Amino acid sequence: MIKKVPNSAQNLQPKLTDQFGRAIDYIRLSITDRCDFRCVYCMAEEMTFLPRDEVLSLEECARLVKIFVGLGVNKVRITGGEPLVRKNALWLFEEIGKLKNLNELVLTTNGSQLEKQAQDLKNAGVKRINISVDSLDAARFKKITRTGELDKVLRGIQAAKLVGFENIKLNTVLMRGMNDDEALSLVNFAIAQSIDISFIEEMPLGDVNHIRESTFCSNEDTLKMLKSEYPLIASTETTGGPARYWRVANTDTKIGFISPHSHNFCESCNRVRITCKGELYLCLGQEDKIDLMPLLRKHPDDDQSIIDAILASMAIKPKGHDFDLRRAAPAVIRFMSHTGG
Ligand code: 5AD
Ligand code: SF4
Repeated sequence: MIKKVPNSAQNLQPKLTDQFGRAIDYIRLSITDRCDFRCVYCMAEEMTFLPRDEVLSLEECARLVKIFVGLGVNKVRITGGEPLVRKNALWLFEEIGKLKNLNELVLTTNGSQLEKQAQDLKNAGVKRINISVDSLDAARFKKITRTGELDKVLRGIQAAKLVGFENIKLNTVLMRGMNDDEALSLVNFAIAQSIDISFIEEMPLGDVNHIRESTFCSNEDTLKMLKSEYPLIASTETTGGPARYWRVANTDTKIGFISPHSHNFCESCNRVRITCKGELYLCLGQEDKIDLMPLLRKHPDDDQSIIDAILASMAIKPKGHDFDLRRAAPAVIRFMSHTGG
């Protein structure tokens, strides 16, 4: 007789729910603070990166993701910095791809390595890819990314399409006077490529020298302009995050608007972020964090204290965030490359 095996131990773990009753089932993990680009809204021109031993090893990343999946997380986004510049990053994608209770392994990348890595990532089980593209003009692209080659990224997008990624999405940060006149051509490009695009409002993170109040470009204005060009159908789809989606009628393209300045999405927040240093941030806009790295290193063979710390962190996840563009300094002086976009 075949004995019925009880549900896996994973299912016996308590799930993650914060003090406001929000279920946390999505983690975003930054696996490196390094990047081959230096986007103006993300990095300073000269960056000092973390020494290797202050960054989670790929084994530690895999262990953490496994623990979170054991706690009911079913979606993992790998970010950076640029995750694909980390040596052996593919091993991590393969390890995460094997986890049974995970629905979605997704990636945010600048696209520079996709030409080489798209096929391996697909094979590892990556479902969706977000690629940052702020301009389709090579000179401008260089100005915004400081070091990026547009052509290489465009080839990366083609490679991702060719190996069969279904949901490819462009992420665009519009900045007044820099690329805000490209919203329509970027949407046209997305439609021609049958991919999606999201416009992200610039967040007051990182480099104090980059003046945001003057470059800030509101999604409301972009939406208004696009509505005058295309029939847009509001979509009810939500990822629990700050994005609202519109479908462009008679195309395969959805347009997302990610408006971190509006508070109305906090109540449905389903996510936490982990930096490449193993800091668990409960909210993008606030300082509350738990350092997981010391626990991981102190207890290499026993997950319980890490599980306890993660469960306890739920009590400090704030109700919402508060970014204020008029403040002289960024609300949170933390580079996006640290926390993950
Ligand atoms: N504001 C908004 N988006 C940002 N990103 C990086 N820094 C910022 C910022 N200050 C986005 C990039 C990329 C992702 C990794 O994060 O556009 O799509
Ligand atoms: Fe690199 Fe992305 Fe930051 Fe640009 S936004 S510097 S591509 S991590």
